[in-house]
Amino acid sequence: MSKVIAIYPGSFDPPTNGHLDLIERGSHIFDELVVAILRNAEKVPLFSVAERYRMLEELTGHFANVRVDTFDGLTVEYATRVKAKAVLRGIRAISDYEYELQMALMNRKLQPHLETVFMMPAEQYSYLSSRLVREVAQLGGSIKDLVPEMVERRLKEKLDPAVKLKDARKPKAGKRV
Ligand code: PNS
Repeated sequence: MSKVIAIYPGSFDPPTNGHLDLIERGSHIFDELVVAILRNAEKVPLFSVAERYRMLEELTGHFANVRVDTFDGLTVEYATRVKAKAVLRGIRAISDYEYELQMALMNRKLQPHLETVFMMPAEQYSYLSSRLVREVAQLGGSIKDLVPEMVERRLKEKLDPAVKLKDARKPKAGKRV
């Protein structure tokens, strides 16, 4: 039997614990899951595609059947290129449903053989979005427990380059200065 490949497309700016929760769930039901970062020339992202790619690679490295990629153009065309049978998307609340339904039906119109599979992230992430994480972090609020520690650190560095400088100057553990 041929293996079932799914893509999980999105902006991931930045990746959140909700994304990771969904990636883990997807990795259990698909043979291969491709986390596909959209290279969107229209939006000005906080993190570059390369930064998001590196973060997602690090965060998903322990899943044997998950890989990270980038794409532009139509999702359905990318899905066909990587031989995916399904598009994985997360639905958090009813408010997501209308937009997701529109996208799923448009994708089906464009590529009838491609199925969209919706999964729900754990309830503690049901209000979580990259946009809110960016906003809270930019305004100095805590995003602990909402994003992995590494993403929290990258966000702090991005929003206050002095943090990066300070960390670089810190003596390494065990090193005598
Ligand atoms: O995480 P996001 O930003 O909600 O992801 C949206 C994404 C990337 C899935 C959507 O914008 C998309 O599929 N864009 C690619 C262009 C495309 O195929 N557009 C038609 C979708 S119906």
